Amino acid sequence: MFKNDLLAGHRILITGGGTGIGRSIGHHFLTLGAEIVICGRREAVLEQTATELAAATGGKVQYKPCDIRDAAQVEGLCDWIWAEAPLTGLVNNAAGNFIAQSETLSPRAVDAVLNIVLHGSAYMTLNCGKRWLDAGQRGNVLSIITTYAWTGSAFVVPSAMAKAGVLAMTRSLAVEWGGRGIRLNAIAPGPFPTAGAWERLVPKPELAAIFESQNPQKRVGRHDELANLAAFLMSDAVGFINGEVVTIDGGEWLQGAGQFNFVGEHMSPADWQALRSKK
Ligand code: HXC
Repeated sequence: MFKNDLLAGHRILITGGGTGIGRSIGHHFLTLGAEIVICGRREAVLEQTATELAAATGGKVQYKPCDIRDAAQVEGLCDWIWAEAPLTGLVNNAAGNFIAQSETLSPRAVDAVLNIVLHGSAYMTLNCGKRWLDAGQRGNVLSIITTYAWTGSAFVVPSAMAKAGVLAMTRSLAVEWGGRGIRLNAIAPGPFPTAGAWERLVPKPELAAIFESQNPQKRVGRHDELANLAAFLMSDAVGFINGEVVTIDGGEWLQGAGQFNFVGEHMSPADWQALRSKK
């Protein structure tokens, strides 16, 4: 979709880049000429992904374990990155989530999700932002949120609360830092199957099928579609996009929102014809 050098000269950290959507985004950034750094909690996973992505693309991939819930680890990761060269961009991709009846959630369960998604994204963004501002350098932050950041969603309440907070951070800092060369945007994906997310969010095969049947496009998203959008928003070619959230869900959330959207599934061609002939 893009020129091969679209992201040349970029050095981008992708949190949670060892697996899932983060890995797919990293792979695409490499093919477009970026250097990437990936972090996550499991060193063996990061090492394997870094080796595989470098071999597949010929690009430069660095990795370092980091639990983004821990501000000291975030500081250490950024010190290590900046000791070689500053980042040009950050992708807040790491997330934690599981479906549960909300009344059964323990405080630790709430904290686990909020600490990863909300606090972790804030620690990363503020740490990178401070370094960019202190050095007078440009910076670019892209956060992966979800459509239920604004609709809310049953059974994933801590995730909805946290993603709403990341959206608020994105819009707030886009204004506060926009005049100093830093822009922040977000992507709101619909269903993009990954092993980690589906294991925690889609415990029965019939639920996976409903994601497809309820989507206006009758399918789930492909990782390459999401990675293309991430590259677009990361590129300098669209540097005036700031504080935006772009939805990529096949129309899923609007399908659930429109009052009459359900009608099509319950009306036959004969029903529609009968209505027209009543005029
Ligand atoms: C109820 C649960 C639970 C579950 C964990 N807990 N899973 N409670 N139902 N299914 C509770 C535990 O009992 C514990 O509370 C507390 O949460 C912390 O659990 P730990 O396992 O000790 O925490 P930790 O090892 O830090 O794991 C964090 C995690 C885990 C968030 C719970 O799922 C994780 O590591 N996830 C990372 C990857 C991930 O979630 N990927 C999917 C993101 S997808 P107690 O009180 O018992 O000690 C996404 C996209 C959304 O966000 C859009 C999709 C369409």
